[in-house]
Amino acid sequence: MFYLIGIGMGDEKDISVRGLEAVKTCSKVFLECYTSKLVNFDIKKMEELYDKKIILADRYIVEKKCEEEMLNVAKEENIALLIVGSPLGATTHWDILKRAKELGIKTEVIDNAGILGAVGVTGLSLYKFGRVVTIPKDNDNVKSPYEMMLKNKEMGLHTLILLDVGSVDGEFELMTAKEGCNYLVKSGFEGEVIVCGGLGSENPEINFGDVNSLSVKKLPQCLIVPGDLHFMEEDVLNSFK
Ligand SMILES: C[S@@+](CC[C@H](N)C(=O)[O-])C[C@H]1O[C@@H](n2cnc3c(N)ncnc32)[C@H](O)[C@@H]1O
Repeated sequence: MFYLIGIGMGDEKDISVRGLEAVKTCSKVFLECYTSKLVNFDIKKMEELYDKKIILADRYIVEKKCEEEMLNVAKEENIALLIVGSPLGATTHWDILKRAKELGIKTEVIDNAGILGAVGVTGLSLYKFGRVVTIPKDNDNVKSPYEMMLKNKEMGLHTLILLDVGSVDGEFELMTAKEGCNYLVKSGFEGEVIVCGGLGSENPEINFGDVNSLSVKKLPQCLIVPGDLHFMEEDVLNSFK
């Protein structure tokens, strides 16, 4: 069996009971480590709780070596690939599931909370979000995230803006919401945004205010450009001023 398991966002304890039970049956447990990061990631605590060695899997392993490292083994044994957040929030991890199915391997997806739902804590209605965009770290002359945000705004919809996840020498280099705000300002944006850090953890940071004056400390971070606000949404947002 090949398991694709979402482990939530805060720390190793956010895995579901079903996820943990599956992990315990696996001979190898990989943690995908290039699309996101737990707010409080401690590999030793994870290995202790899951009672397994955790193998960090970068993009090269997941995309180029997955047959050799994971899928061929999954023909005979249970293998898990852990994904921070929800495993199928974007198309990123469909490829490995498709490859597993082509090889005749049984697969199971075990879901968890991810960033797309976690932003509900800001008070904004999830039903009123438009297209999600990502700002890359090198964003000189990058127009599409800004243009998509404007389209959402024209329709009165909120825009969730995700930030580039990079790595330097195997260490995460997460872009900050402040850098995201700088990109918006550089693109011509004026007005109020919401910046979020460490969502899904015990103490998430959320700030609402002028795009020029906001930052948060906890990582990972994202930002939201609000669309038209219902008075209930406005009420909650104002508590983050
Ligand atoms: C590709 S997305 C995460 C996908 C993940 N599978 C999920 O469902 O959450 C990664 C981006 O989401 C945002 N993000 C992830 N975790 C976050 C958190 N705990 N708080 C705020 N933003 C977060 C950051 O902008 C980060 O660069």
